[in-house]
Amino acid sequence: MTVPPFGIGVIGCGNISNQYLRHLTAFPDLAVLICADLEAARAKAQAAAYGVPEWGSPADALGHPGVQLIVNLTIPAAHAEVTAAAIAAGRHVWSEKPLTLDLAGGRALLAAAAAAGVRIGCAPDTVLGAGLQSARRLIDSGAIGTPLSALTLLQGPGPQSWHPDPEFLFAPGAGPLFDLGPYYLSVLAVLFGPALRVAAIGRRPRESRVIGSGLRAGTEFAVAVPTYVAALAEYVGGQAASLLFSWDSPLHRSGFVEVTGTEATFAVPDPNRFDGDLRVRRAGEADWTVLPATGAAAGRGTGVADMARAIRAGTAHRASGDLGLHVLEMMTAIERSAASGAFEPVQTRFDTPAPLDPQWDPYVTAH
Ligand SMILES: NC(=O)c1ccc[n+]([C@@H]2O[C@H](COP(=O)([O-])OP(=O)(O)OC[C@H]3O[C@@H](n4cnc5c(N)ncnc54)[C@H](O)[C@@H]3O)[C@@H](O)[C@H]2O)c1
Repeated sequence: MTVPPFGIGVIGCGNISNQYLRHLTAFPDLAVLICADLEAARAKAQAAAYGVPEWGSPADALGHPGVQLIVNLTIPAAHAEVTAAAIAAGRHVWSEKPLTLDLAGGRALLAAAAAAGVRIGCAPDTVLGAGLQSARRLIDSGAIGTPLSALTLLQGPGPQSWHPDPEFLFAPGAGPLFDLGPYYLSVLAVLFGPALRVAAIGRRPRESRVIGSGLRAGTEFAVAVPTYVAALAEYVGGQAASLLFSWDSPLHRSGFVEVTGTEATFAVPDPNRFDGDLRVRRAGEADWTVLPATGAAAGRGTGVADMARAIRAGTAHRASGDLGLHVLEMMTAIERSAASGAFEPVQTRFDTPAPLDPQWDPYVTAH
């Protein structure tokens, strides 16, 4: 018997919806049934561009009888409201990061989903890409010995130059910590497990920035959050990490994640990508050994495909709400520490997701 595709409704048809819609409409296990946005013209345009049969308001997506899972691609300030409405409508939800703006709101969503018998998944799903899954398998195989520490670097001038509507990226729920921190913190969560405590320094050297592209280029807007955050994290397993998130650097350097174990240092591919080679340098070696990544690198929407398959199979999906909540708690704790100057505890926990089989591919139907 042929199983019908899993019904998807997309709410939020802005910048990132292009990547999602390109992939979600091509994965054979899924069917995107409706695009929705507060701005109807955006929903209509995206439905037309990606061959989605219907478009409308968020309420239209929530009320669509075929929609089993809502993909929430709204701005961070709207994530909680849209996810809560989807849960109340009895739909599973995939949320872009961060899960919510605050920990209490995130806990409330997970509790509401559990009570309603629906699931929450949370970006980033880059941790399911070939690059990071290969990294996970390599570390699990003992190739670097016992993992001891990590160093991550994200620095650059900030996204005001390329994003046509960048205000939300400098508002609560964003800044380099909340916008890009989820990639780096999720990778370390998947490799090390949960964190125990964090400490940080934060800075906001510029009170305003100027939009550099699009229809509103030249417009000045306020910066509400720290744009330089240097953090330390200690993990339950004893590992330590040093992390830099800065939009106050003329020098661009991103995707830098190195994990050091008792036997070797290991350069993990860019956590904002689904692919990329791995590099290992063992004690005494003068240069890196490059190891190609194996597995699917399908792009954004991979986590939705994993979630739909897991719901049907009754197994755990990997980019879980619990993982998203833990990463959110780390970020809020880092933010608090930057203000207080003290170490802050991290208390939420999650089940470390099982590695994907290298043969797993969202483009190849599961049934
Ligand atoms: N742009 C990127 O490169 C990128 C990459 C990865 C993740 N993300 C994440 O994706 C999310 C969206 O980012 P974006 O860059 O696409 O933003 P965007 O501003 O381009 O698009 C957001 C869309 O959501 C709509 N919207 C806002 N509130 C809504 C609500 N309550 N109900 C329905 N629609 C609503 C807006 O009208 C807009 O069309 C953010 O959480 C961001 O962190 C963005």
